[in-house]
Amino acid sequence: MSRFHALIPAAGSGSRMGGIQPKQYLDLGGRPVIAHSFAALSRDTRIDRLVVVLSPGDAWWDGYDWSAWQERLHILRCGGVTRAETVLNGLEAMAGWCAADDWVLVHDAARPCLPAAALGRLLDEVASDAVGGLLAAPLADTLKRADADTRVEATVPRAGLWQAQTPQMFRHGQLRAALRTAGADMTDEASAIEQLGLRPKLVESDSRNLKVTYPQDLRLASLILEHLHD
Ligand code: C5P
Repeated sequence: MSRFHALIPAAGSGSRMGGIQPKQYLDLGGRPVIAHSFAALSRDTRIDRLVVVLSPGDAWWDGYDWSAWQERLHILRCGGVTRAETVLNGLEAMAGWCAADDWVLVHDAARPCLPAAALGRLLDEVASDAVGGLLAAPLADTLKRADADTRVEATVPRAGLWQAQTPQMFRHGQLRAALRTAGADMTDEASAIEQLGLRPKLVESDSRNLKVTYPQDLRLASLILEHLHD
């Protein structure tokens, strides 16, 4: 039986957020953003371990109490310069105890509002898939491509377009091989798998699973969390 592991890249500096504290440590309802991501992932008992990948120079982690996840949390301090590098370094470090066909669910530290139902759907729909898949939301807005003067160059038809989220769920061996050849600038795991000529499955999610990127996202995340379990 393949096991399920969560891999949480948390080595970003969060430069778009401003400030010096990386966004995964910003306060959200009395605990750091990343603690909500752990809580969301550990709510599904099928997930075996939470593997968090920190930057080697992370000076924030030790300032918090992580005892609520002590049993399941595995901490690696091998984050890279890009997200893809962080994920690949994490996968390499897991290789000693993780089977090649175990599932790895890569989830952004900065996505604290992952709904339990969406996570459950991902596990249900992808566990028997040959390739793997990801949570994503069908696009609701009309898309515009801008030119250099910030004027509309074109309207992009939104039919068939989805916004990729996380978790993104692939087999350990295949994802490691894909990221080794893909290059360090891939912004998600699915892109690396696609480069192998494979077609990951899209599993429907919604806009509550936002990534905290800009200061106003924290307020929104706080409102979403208040009603997430209603
Ligand atoms: O910067 P971005 O919003 O794309 O970051 C998404 C996730 O990837 C965050 O959890 C961030 O901490 C992580 N990341 C990382 N290593 C990097 C850059 C980003 O683990 N070098």
